[in-house]
Amino acid sequence: MAFLSRLVFLSASISIFCHTSAVAQQLDQKKTLAEPNTYVGSEICRTCHLEHYDAWKRTLHSKMLQDVSKNEDVLVTELDEKVMKEDFKKIEKKLKVPMDQIYFPKREDVLYTIGSQWKQRYLVKQDGKYFIAPTQFNIDKGRWVNYHDHDWKERPWLKKCGGCHATGVDLEKETFNEPGVGCEACHGPGSHHAALPVGESLGKRANIVNPSKLTGGVAVQICGSCHNRGKATKVKGSGWPVGYRPGKALETYYRSIPADDKKKMYPGGFSKGHHQQYIDWKNSRHADSGVDCISCHVVHELGNPVFQSKTKLEGDKLCLSCHEQVAQVGAHSVHSFGNCANCHMPRIAKSAESGDIRSHVFKVLLPKDTLETKIPNSCQSCHKHQDEDLADLQKRWDNLTKRQPANGGDVAQARQNGDATQASQ
Ligand code: HEC
Ligand code: HEC
Ligand code: HEC
Ligand code: HEC
Ligand code: HEC
Ligand code: HEC
Ligand code: HEC
Ligand code: HEC
Repeated sequence: MAFLSRLVFLSASISIFCHTSAVAQQLDQKKTLAEPNTYVGSEICRTCHLEHYDAWKRTLHSKMLQDVSKNEDVLVTELDEKVMKEDFKKIEKKLKVPMDQIYFPKREDVLYTIGSQWKQRYLVKQDGKYFIAPTQFNIDKGRWVNYHDHDWKERPWLKKCGGCHATGVDLEKETFNEPGVGCEACHGPGSHHAALPVGESLGKRANIVNPSKLTGGVAVQICGSCHNRGKATKVKGSGWPVGYRPGKALETYYRSIPADDKKKMYPGGFSKGHHQQYIDWKNSRHADSGVDCISCHVVHELGNPVFQSKTKLEGDKLCLSCHEQVAQVGAHSVHSFGNCANCHMPRIAKSAESGDIRSHVFKVLLPKDTLETKIPNSCQSCHKHQDEDLADLQKRWDNLTKRQPANGGDVAQARQNGDATQASQ
C-alpha cells in the first residue's frame, strides 16, 4: 500500500514538472497573480493534475453541459420535429399551449446539451440570452415530453439553473467560465493556485480549497450547494446559491425547500424531486454520525472502478464495509439475499420518469407507509404483482419479522409484555 501510494506520488510529481511549461504558455503568471483570483477552467488544472482530470472526465460531473459544436455525438437522439410531434400528440392533454405554437428546436439552434443519464434538455439562445428549449427527451423510455412549453422564455437558464450545471457563472456579465461541474466548482477559483510556481507548495495550498482539509460540516456543503433544491438568498428568483464559494457556509446563500413542500417532498422528510440528496441525507442517521457523501462516493480517484453512481465499493459491499454485522433477525431474516439499497434507498424520486432516483434517508419504507401517506414503499420494486394487497403484505411481513432468535428473545418478549401491560391498564 505504502509502496503503491509512493508510486502514485512519484508519477504525480513527474507530471507536475513536465507540464509546468504548458501552464506558462496558457497563463501569464505575473499578470494572473496581480489580478484577483478567478476561474481558469479544468483544462488548466489538467496540465499538473492529469490523474485527477482523467478520473473526473469519467464522471457525469464533466458531462453535465456539453458543447454541441465541439462534438455532435453529445446529442443522445436526433432532433426530428416529426418524431417530437408524434410523442407530444400522445400527451396532448398535458400541453399548456397548442401544438402548432410550441417551439421545437432544430439541431442548429442547440448550443449545449443538458444531461445525458435520465433526460436531456437543450440550451438555445434568444435575443442573446440562454434559455432551455421546451422539449425534453426521456432517455430510458425514449420519448419526448414538454418542459415549460408556455413560459420557457421567462426562465433564463443562467439565473434559474446555471450555477449547478456550469462553473464560474457570472450573472452580471451573463457568462460562465466552463460548461459542466469543473474542478473549480468544488475547489473554488484557481487562477492564483495555477499561476504560482510549482516550488511554492505552501502558497499553492493556501490558494485552493481542499475539501478534505475543511471541517466535515462545511465540506459536505460543497456537494450540498448543488445536490439540493431551494432559493438563493442574495438574488431573487435564482435556484442556485449565487455568491457561494466552496469553504463558505451554504446557509448564507441558500435556503432549501421546507419539509412540507408538497410538490417536491413526501411526508417524513423523503424527497420526491431529484437533485435533493443533501436534503435527504440531512434527515438521516448517517448525517448525525458524520458519514457524508464522500464516505460513500468518489469524485475522482485513481484507477477507480466504474461502479454505478461512483460509489466507493459495489452494491452491498459498500454498506457492509461499515455495517460489518447486520444481524439476520427481524427485518433482515425474511430475505435470503442482501440488496441493502433496494430496501434502504428505494427509487422514489423523479428525474425523468417517476422512480428513477434513490432516496438518501436510508430508512426503509414499508407497505404501511404507503397505506398511510401514499409514499411509494421499498418493497414493490420487487413485490410488484399488480394486485398485491399492501395490507396483506404488511401482515405477512409483521408475522415473519416478529420472530427473534433465542438471545434476542428477551428484548422482544419484554417489549411484548410492556405492550400487554400498557394495553391492560
Ligand atoms: C502549475 C501546476 C499546477 C496547476 C496548473 C494546478 N495545480 Fe493544483 N497543485 C499543484 C501542486 C504542485 C500541488 C501540491 C502542493 C503541495 O501540497 O505540495 C497542488 C495541490 C493541489 C490541491 C491540494 C491542496 C492541498 O491543500 O492539499 C488541490 C485541491 C489542487 N491542487 C487543485 C487544483 C485545481 C482545481 C487546479 C486548476 C484550477 C490546479 N490545482 C492547478 C500544482 C498545480
Ligand atoms: C464534485 C466535486 C469535485 C470536483 C468536480 C473535483 N474535485 Fe478534487 N477533490 C474533491 C474532494 C471532495 C476532495 C477531497 C477528498 C478526496 O480526495 O476525494 C478532492 C481532492 C483533490 C485534490 C487533493 C489530493 C487528493 O486527491 O486528495 C486534488 C489535487 C484535486 N482534488 C484536484 C482536482 C482536479 C484537478 C479536478 C478537476 C479535473 C477536481 N479535483 C475536481 C472534490 C472535487
Ligand atoms: C456545481 C454543482 C455540483 C457540485 C458542487 C457537486 N455536484 Fe454532483 N452532480 C452535479 C450534477 C449537475 C450532476 C449530474 C450530472 C449529469 O447527469 O450529467 C451530478 C452528479 C453526481 C453523481 C453521479 C455521478 C456519476 O458519474 O454517476 C454523484 C455521485 C455526485 N454528483 C456526487 C457529488 C459529491 C459527492 C459532491 C461533493 C463532493 C458533488 N457531487 C458536488 C452537480 C454538482
Ligand atoms: C441547486 C442545483 C440545481 C439547480 C438549480 C438545477 N439543477 Fe439540474 N441537476 C442538479 C443535480 C445535482 C443533478 C443530478 C442529480 C439528480 O438528478 O438527482 C441535476 C440533474 C439535471 C438533469 C438530468 C441530468 C441527466 O444526466 O439525466 C437535467 C436535464 C437538469 N438537471 C436540468 C436542469 C434545468 C434545466 C434547471 C433549471 C431550470 C436545473 N436543472 C436546475 C442540480 C441542479
Ligand atoms: C451511506 C452511503 C451513501 C451516502 C452517505 C451518500 N450516498 Fe449517494 N448513493 C449511495 C448509493 C449506494 C447510491 C446508488 C448506487 C447505485 O445505484 O448502484 C447512491 C446514488 C447517488 C446518486 C445518483 C442518483 C441516483 O439515485 O441514482 C447521487 C447523485 C448521489 N448518490 C449523491 C450523493 C450526495 C450528494 C451525497 C451527500 C449529500 C450522498 N450521495 C451520500 C450511497 C451513499
Ligand atoms: C462509512 C461507513 C458507513 C457506510 C459506508 C454505511 N454506513 Fe450506515 N451507518 C454508519 C454509521 C456510523 C451509522 C450510525 C450508527 C448508529 O447510529 O448506530 C449508520 C447508520 C445507518 C442506519 C440507521 C441505523 C439506525 O439505528 O437507525 C442505516 C439503516 C444504515 N446505516 C444503512 C446503511 C446502508 C444501507 C448503507 C449502504 C448504502 C450504509 N449504511 C453505508 C456508517 C456507514
Ligand atoms: C427487505 C428489506 C431490507 C433489506 C434487503 C435490508 N434491510 Fe436493513 N432494515 C430493514 C428494516 C425494515 C429495518 C428496520 C428499521 C427501518 O425501518 O429502517 C432495517 C434496519 C437496518 C439497520 C438498523 C438496525 C440494525 O439492525 O442495526 C441497519 C444498520 C441496516 N438495516 C442495514 C442493512 C444493510 C447493510 C443491508 C444489506 C446487507 C440491509 N440493511 C438490507 C429492511 C431491510
Ligand atoms: C430486491 C427484491 C425485494 C425487495 C426489495 C423486497 N422483497 Fe420481499 N421477497 C423477495 C423475494 C425474491 C422473496 C422470496 C424469498 C427469498 O428469495 O428470499 C421475498 C419474500 C418476502 C416475504 C415472505 C414471502 C411472502 O410473500 O409472504 C415477505 C413477507 C416479504 N418478502 C415482504 C417484503 C417487504 C415488506 C419488503 C419491503 C420492506 C420486501 N419484501 C422487499 C424480494 C424482495
